[in-house]
Amino acid sequence: MSHSLLLTGATGNTGQVIAEELKRRLIPFAAMVHSERRKAQLAAAGIESVMGDFDNPESMERALEGVEKAYLVCTPDEKLVQRETAFINAAKKAGVQLIVKCSALLAGPTAETQNLRSHGVVEEALIKSGIAYTILRPTGYMQTFTLFGWDMIQKAGVISMPAGDGRMAMVDVRDVATVAIKALTEPGHTGKAYDITGAEAFNLYEMASDLQKALGHSVTYLPGNEQQLTMVMRVLGVPPTPSEHVIKIFRMQREHRIEMIHTTLQELGITPITYAQFARDLVAGRTGGGNSFQPPDTFMVRLMNAMMPTMMKMQLAFSGAKKTG
Ligand SMILES: NC(=O)c1ccc[n+]([C@@H]2O[C@H](COP(=O)([O-])OP(=O)(O)OC[C@H]3O[C@@H](n4cnc5c(N)ncnc54)[C@H](OP(=O)(O)O)[C@@H]3O)[C@@H](O)[C@H]2O)c1
Repeated sequence: MSHSLLLTGATGNTGQVIAEELKRRLIPFAAMVHSERRKAQLAAAGIESVMGDFDNPESMERALEGVEKAYLVCTPDEKLVQRETAFINAAKKAGVQLIVKCSALLAGPTAETQNLRSHGVVEEALIKSGIAYTILRPTGYMQTFTLFGWDMIQKAGVISMPAGDGRMAMVDVRDVATVAIKALTEPGHTGKAYDITGAEAFNLYEMASDLQKALGHSVTYLPGNEQQLTMVMRVLGVPPTPSEHVIKIFRMQREHRIEMIHTTLQELGITPITYAQFARDLVAGRTGGGNSFQPPDTFMVRLMNAMMPTMMKMQLAFSGAKKTG
């Protein structure tokens, strides 16, 4: 069946929340998926999908037949430019009238990370395509920056990232999804690029305190180092581009260079979700989103998962860090 609204990334962070909300509002759409497993997963959630692979332009042309509006989001790895520009080209051929693209805060041709430079290239390609567009530039997601260490937070009561005492105005995926839905369903958003952050910039001591209140057990922030995080990401099989991005974002945070706050959400009539609220919702299992990245089921990953909580507890004991509670 052909749909006038197509969502990519409907199994990922923002796409998942957008899909659930469109379904709740009875707005017809289809999700583009690139595996039968994902098709079945979405069907079980009552979401219709069409096959389409960012790596296969013909499949995207088929998925885009009859589509007027599309949400574009893709895994932030080495292929982002190739995949998203192929989607824009296929959309142009199919006569798509609006693309809402998920980019990232600070994206641009001379940005500090490969991921941000790639978004800069795609943004330019989208603008040049002649298709009407809205660009979303969100900062780091609360979901991503918390779920990455969630096992350790729960099992060892420790959150450890190389963020020093720097702050970042992280945003909840649900707020980004709300902006995307507005751009897809309301007039007045075309030709706009929205910088999206939460309402408050906070550091990891404050995150630990909010997580502790939500979980009801001690959570302590232990400032980590880049080498440790790089090693963990290597074991988990995180590709080089997102790895470099994460390390540099934490470096910018440590150096107090990513503390900016934008009021786009409030200007669009959205009350930003605070980290404290996010933490409560996460514990209650109602945050939505959730990165689709799955670490490989290897011996090293199993070993690391088994050993890290004990190692973190020891690190906490020897660090002399005062427990948050
Ligand atoms: N995470 C953050 O904190 C953050 C913050 C700001 C901006 N962003 C930007 O948001 C974007 C998405 O990042 P994310 O981490 O949130 O990822 P995500 O949206 O959770 O996951 C990526 C989505 O792309 C789909 N996909 C991947 N390869 C595909 C292919 N070949 N064909 C069709 N679909 C494919 C995935 O489906 P499968 O699961 O089926 O592969 C998944 O649904 C990136 O551009 C990133 O730079 C992220």
